[in-house]
Amino acid sequence: MDVHIEFSGGRGHRDEIYRQLRAAILDGRIREGESLPPTRELARRLAISRTTVSAAYDRLTAEGFLAAKVGSGTFVRVGAGRHLTPPPGEPVASLRGTAVWDDVPRAPRGFAPSPEFDFRAGVPDVSRFPFAAWRRLVAAQVRISNADLMTYADPGGHPALREAIARHVGVSRDVRAAPADVLVTSGAQQALDLVARVLLKPGDVAAVEDPGYPPPRLLLHTLGVRTAAVPVDSEGLVVDALPDDCRVVYVTPSHQYPLGVSMSLARRLELLAWAERHDAAIVEDDYDTEFRYTGRPLEPLYSLDTGRRVLYVGSFSKVLSPALRLGFLVAPPSLRDVLTKAKYLTDWHSAAPAQAVLAEFIDEGGFAAHIRRMRREYQTRHDLVAAILKRDFAGMLDVIPSSVGLHLSAFGHGDSAAVRRAARQAGVTLYSLGDFAVEKRTTAGFVFGYGAIAADRIEAGLCRLREVMADKGGD
Ligand SMILES: Cc1ncc(COP(=O)(O)O)c(C=O)c1O
Repeated sequence: MDVHIEFSGGRGHRDEIYRQLRAAILDGRIREGESLPPTRELARRLAISRTTVSAAYDRLTAEGFLAAKVGSGTFVRVGAGRHLTPPPGEPVASLRGTAVWDDVPRAPRGFAPSPEFDFRAGVPDVSRFPFAAWRRLVAAQVRISNADLMTYADPGGHPALREAIARHVGVSRDVRAAPADVLVTSGAQQALDLVARVLLKPGDVAAVEDPGYPPPRLLLHTLGVRTAAVPVDSEGLVVDALPDDCRVVYVTPSHQYPLGVSMSLARRLELLAWAERHDAAIVEDDYDTEFRYTGRPLEPLYSLDTGRRVLYVGSFSKVLSPALRLGFLVAPPSLRDVLTKAKYLTDWHSAAPAQAVLAEFIDEGGFAAHIRRMRREYQTRHDLVAAILKRDFAGMLDVIPSSVGLHLSAFGHGDSAAVRRAARQAGVTLYSLGDFAVEKRTTAGFVFGYGAIAADRIEAGLCRLREVMADKGGD
């Protein structure tokens, strides 16, 4: 391994090597079992004597950080990273993030391990990911050694993917966009980040739904934006409750997260008129409507908009996999350049090889076929959850009608957070509506995600939940 040692001039070379290697082992930059460069090689690179390097290695060996294996070099000892106490006189790191970060809950560590009955919302069935097709496309890409994909690329996105996305949203969502209007992002979350960076400054007001998807609200908060939590009713966001000074409205009109309602046409038109009157922008998050089970979708705000105030956000997280970190933003032409600049300064561009594979997957028809297959599967699960909730939870839960996406919600009574905790103990993981409530207007009830639970596990899982609720005296 190629270790980097910096001589600041303050300490002797031996001490510097000792201190920097030790710190790298303790904070995991050099992992247990990894080999260090031979003393002769490191001495040559640093232009110092080999004895100095050996002395530093000897001290680390004596302290149990390194072990020498005859004939194969010096290794970081297994267990070395567990020496967690700083050496005497070495200050404990005292740097902290700014105060806004104290308001943000700990970042999730991923979704594993899965509970016995997993009703968490927002996760697709990744066991059905089209692995074979993906493998073939990745292999083909590597085989032709396409060096163009391995250098810095257009921040706006891989051209073939922008084209494929423009076609996909045109056909499936009636969002008419040219490839140049499409900006490829690292998921919907980055799309929102870019929008906030270019349209908002600290102190500005942005509206979010209440209850709503927490990451956008938290992100806005960390950027110094004041968020107004606006209630949602059976027709979607209550436009009358929007504050006059709001600059950006973040909404999930096709499938409100978490309630699941679809914003009525009247409300959509009201919101657009409101944005026009207040010179505000609307971010339309259309994260999972590829999966629609009955009825025709209402036109997206983006397509109804005549004032070019709507930014349409899509994601491949639900329809394929959240691990790809691929999403997109379709923005009015007036924002195209500034959003591309923001994307460039944020992370230059999303991973080009993955974008190219996705473009091919869409072009060859694999994506549409995957959606059709998964739609059938999720419809079975959706219908099962809806039927069992109606049959077995009557009087306890009122299902909120919804025929789209990967979750269904239901209003309840009583302390849903306590039920959620007890259910978890009993092997059933699900969110309560209170998990998404900002001002705690809507707290009783649950969100039933069916992306991560197989159809043949649903009945047993809901039966277990019912027992928990009965124990708690109803929800
Ligand atoms: C409302 C909403 N928007 C967007 C996303 C997807 O975000 P991303 O594309 O960043 O994975 C989710 C995922 O749970 C979501 O619930």
